[in-house]
Amino acid sequence: MGRISTGIEGLDKMLNGGLIPRRAYLVKGGPGAGKTTLAMHFLMEGIKNKEKGLYITFEEPVSTLKEDMSKFGFNLDHPNIKIVDATPVGEKKMIFADVLYEEFATSFEKLARTISEEIKAEKYSRIVIDPLTMIKLTILDELEYRRTFMTFLKTISKYKATILFTSELMDSDIEEFLVSGVIELRTIEERGKTLRGIKIIKFRGSTFDEELRPYRITSKGIKVYHQEVLLHGV
Ligand SMILES: Nc1ncnc2c1ncn2[C@@H]1O[C@H](COP(=O)(O)OP(=O)(O)OP(=O)(O)O)[C@@H](O)[C@H]1O
Ligand SMILES: [Mg+2]
Repeated sequence: MGRISTGIEGLDKMLNGGLIPRRAYLVKGGPGAGKTTLAMHFLMEGIKNKEKGLYITFEEPVSTLKEDMSKFGFNLDHPNIKIVDATPVGEKKMIFADVLYEEFATSFEKLARTISEEIKAEKYSRIVIDPLTMIKLTILDELEYRRTFMTFLKTISKYKATILFTSELMDSDIEEFLVSGVIELRTIEERGKTLRGIKIIKFRGSTFDEELRPYRITSKGIKVYHQEVLLHGV
């Protein structure tokens, strides 16, 4: 099975060549760690290869998302990208042709069905859900969440897309066990300086670099220093 690039060279090296396609991955990190930026690298890499990408934003409104990402050189107005605004709004509005926000953002089943339909119609090969937290909080019972999330992954996996979820570090870890890979973005305070480190927690079906490697966010997005070690690693 070939690999697909994340769009970040150093991260691909850590993953021994990139992600195994058609599986689901989780990117975890605290506020401002670069989860959305990493997800955009992933989506844009697909666009470079003439693939189509679907991006569902649950927290950051599309206008600020486009503005912020354009600073890294990501053009979200590309015809091969579809951005779905699933951020909370005061009034009811349509997300897809026949789906109201209230239904979409509060039901995993609805989300799975809608995404499935979108992929069937448009053949999206890369999908981002950023972040998972909002929809996750709609199910409080842990067993129920586990079951629902697994059904969701199973439904999506039929369509052969690679899917990337983001989530906040504080979240409980249920989905870490269910996805194929977990990448963590860590922020460490060291003598008043912020150090950023990236670590692969798991990657089913592959060996991987288990070190905590430094990364930086620059005007071109995320750069991973895969040959360096973050000295004060945790
Ligand atoms: N040119 C730049 N150089 C360095 N850092 C930058 C630059 N542009 C943006 N940043 C930083 O990059 C980060 C972008 O983070 P991003 O939105 O991807 O994080 P996130 O993990 O998705 O955050 P949130 O939890 O708010 O969703 C911000 O912390 C921002 O301050
Ligand atoms: Mg974000």
